[in-house]
Amino acid sequence: MRVMSAKKLNKTLIFIVLIALLGLAWWAYQTLQQRPESVDEAALSAGEQLAAKGREGVLGCQTCHGAKGEGNFAAGFPRLAGLNRDYILKQLQDFARDPLQTRAHIEPIARDYERTPAIYEDLTVYSAGTRTDAIMNGIAKVLTIEEMQQLGLYYSLLPFTATPVAADVQTLERGAELALRGKPEYKMPRCTACHGPKGAGFGAHFPPLAGQPPAYLIKQINLWQSGARDNDHLSLMKNISNLLTDADKANVAAYFANLSYQVNEE
Ligand code: HEC
Ligand code: HEC
Repeated sequence: MRVMSAKKLNKTLIFIVLIALLGLAWWAYQTLQQRPESVDEAALSAGEQLAAKGREGVLGCQTCHGAKGEGNFAAGFPRLAGLNRDYILKQLQDFARDPLQTRAHIEPIARDYERTPAIYEDLTVYSAGTRTDAIMNGIAKVLTIEEMQQLGLYYSLLPFTATPVAADVQTLERGAELALRGKPEYKMPRCTACHGPKGAGFGAHFPPLAGQPPAYLIKQINLWQSGARDNDHLSLMKNISNLLTDADKANVAAYFANLSYQVNEE
């Protein structure tokens, strides 16, 4: 039997360590994907109760967000099923927060980007952390933090399967261009850079776009443009919104509504 040279042995060892690390990473990934073992069942059922029936002064969320948190495509009400629990908590807190009275007013910038050369850079990095909505402001203001957490927990664990909405080829192609390539000429990253491949969302800060009603997606971009939604860290989404034309919004919303999407197996 020939003895391995020290060099070869080293290589073999490094190889084995690498394989072991890969295995460990895969195991960690799988574990994190699964439902946390220690779900606070009391909080979960409190959340379920609130979502279904509400309480004095709070309308049940189901009325608008659907019996299983699937949203209402016709009305453009967002789905809540399978959203990250901390994202839901943050949104409810943002709806509950009063807009700062002292906030400096920033003039809206011209948005005809089709004709405007890329000469400007938006230096806005400050977000007030507020979301203005006639319905949700009233609801969020009367919820306690604990109730918000219970609702976040409940909705984050609900399963959801999107039914892809058909659209014409040209719309989908143009939407894909924005979603997968962005607008490099304006230094605008592709949507999937932040919202995850296939728009499935990523962590607590980047919500899914797939499986949300197109009308809701378009409305949010409009709200960022008007300043009514001003709650994104570092104005990440405000800067993107300001680079989108009305046609862009329609195309990209149609693209994400056309994707298959599933979260939390039924
Ligand atoms: C009367 C209808 C109505 C009821 C009841 C209602 N919502 Fe909403 N909700 C809306 C609408 C409309 C929006 C979209 C607001 C916007 O365009 O900014 C929304 C948005 C949200 C969002 C933001 C979703 C996202 O993707 O950012 C969350 C979270 C939310 N609602 C949670 C709740 C919870 C929890 C309850 C129950 C306590 C509730 N809502 C009850 C109509 C309702
Ligand atoms: C640089 C990162 C980044 C990129 C690129 C980006 N987004 Fe976002 N987007 C965000 C963040 C952060 C939020 C959540 C803000 C918050 O906390 O409410 C968001 C939220 C949204 C929402 C609201 C979703 C909801 O559930 O309320 C829509 C719609 C949206 N983005 C559309 C787009 C589209 C369309 C594109 C591509 C044209 C895009 N985003 C690219 C960072 C990004």
